[in-house]
Amino acid sequence: VSRGRLDAVIRRSITVPAAVHHYDVLIEPGLIDRLADALARYAPAARYAVIADAAVAALYGDRTVVAARASGSAADLFTFPPGERSKTRATWGALTDAMLEAGIGRDACVIALGGGVTTDLAGFVAATYMRGLPCVQVPTSLLAMIDASIGGKTGVDAPAGKNLVGAFAPPRCVVVDPGVLGTLPAVERRAGLAEAVKHAAIGDAGHFEALEGLDADAWLLDPETPTDLVARSIGIKAAIVEADPNERGRRAILNFGHTIAHAIERVTAYEVGHGHAVAIGMVVEARLGEALGITRPGTAARLAALLERLGLPTAPPAVPVRAIVAATATDKKARGGAVRYALLSAIGAAAGSDDAGWTVSVPPESAAAILSAMRTPGVM
Ligand SMILES: NC(=O)c1ccc[n+]([C@@H]2O[C@H](COP(=O)([O-])OP(=O)(O)OC[C@H]3O[C@@H](n4cnc5c(N)ncnc54)[C@H](O)[C@@H]3O)[C@@H](O)[C@H]2O)c1
Ligand SMILES: [Zn+2]
Repeated sequence: VSRGRLDAVIRRSITVPAAVHHYDVLIEPGLIDRLADALARYAPAARYAVIADAAVAALYGDRTVVAARASGSAADLFTFPPGERSKTRATWGALTDAMLEAGIGRDACVIALGGGVTTDLAGFVAATYMRGLPCVQVPTSLLAMIDASIGGKTGVDAPAGKNLVGAFAPPRCVVVDPGVLGTLPAVERRAGLAEAVKHAAIGDAGHFEALEGLDADAWLLDPETPTDLVARSIGIKAAIVEADPNERGRRAILNFGHTIAHAIERVTAYEVGHGHAVAIGMVVEARLGEALGITRPGTAARLAALLERLGLPTAPPAVPVRAIVAATATDKKARGGAVRYALLSAIGAAAGSDDAGWTVSVPPESAAAILSAMRTPGVM
């Protein structure tokens, strides 16, 4: 079709309005047991398919199903083995088959109950099942509450890399019940704090200072009170996502620390969990930014000090540097061979602009040099 002909066709075209989809994030202890109210208001359905990993299902599955049934509709629980290694097309296939088997139809709604693995995976099931069911996110890990359940990104990992198959699919609402953090293992609480530090580092210097002043040990022991921390972090992410829902530009800053983090997760076969990998990735990428003259000197040290105080790792794991660098090359942000990084300009401010872009292309040798300099002695 010649250019002129296409223009003529476009002149006769019909414009389909596609409004940005807004949704509420409700935050209050005890909300899980009052789920029926939220369902009635935001996602009325004939039937609810609650999807949870087996560990979360054992703790909150029955409570959630009972709460959903209080809406007067049917509710069934679908489970899968916990862990990042379940965030695959195979698990997506098993879940959708089980739902088909159970006769879940187009009049149903998915309830994603769990950590980030579940909110990503169940969100993707909802996005694709019978061409899309509504989804209500009920995040149960700190990481999922402040990050994974907010923003509408859903998907699964592939052998070639993390989150490579997925869909933008905003939920009907997000129901955050900080009361469930009481059963979250301390290591997972720390993992969530890594993303809280990320939000502060890319967009809110005041929040970063508040985290530096947080009595982390006390908070980690008793995280159930809905602290400012959860709401403030959600607020930072929501504002970034609202401005750029489909990641055409500024939303990329949420990937600060993640180019290295995703590579570390992969080369350790997900032995290093997402939040811990993000902690390491932020320090590596802050040092990289300093070396490139993009990030204010001293930023990496300040980040590392906070992360260490929160009990998070800041040095790369004992795997070959070249393996980590090779794994960055298949990251989603890689374009045409060059690997792209979202970097800081300083604590509280991401580097970039709408004109210049929000990621920078970094040669593999630069990343390798930083990683080698941070290397645990004795490992090549
Ligand atoms: N979509 C996004 O925008 C986005 C953002 C950040 C992270 N993520 C994804 O999130 C995932 C990591 O999430 P995660 O760290 O929550 O992992 P996860 O879902 O595996 O949860 C961590 C562990 O905590 C357990 N758990 C969860 N809630 C619990 C509770 N209340 N009590 C007891 N145990 C509980 C789970 O069973 C699991 O073993 C990664 O796959 C990452 O890519 C996505
Ligand atoms: Zn993350």
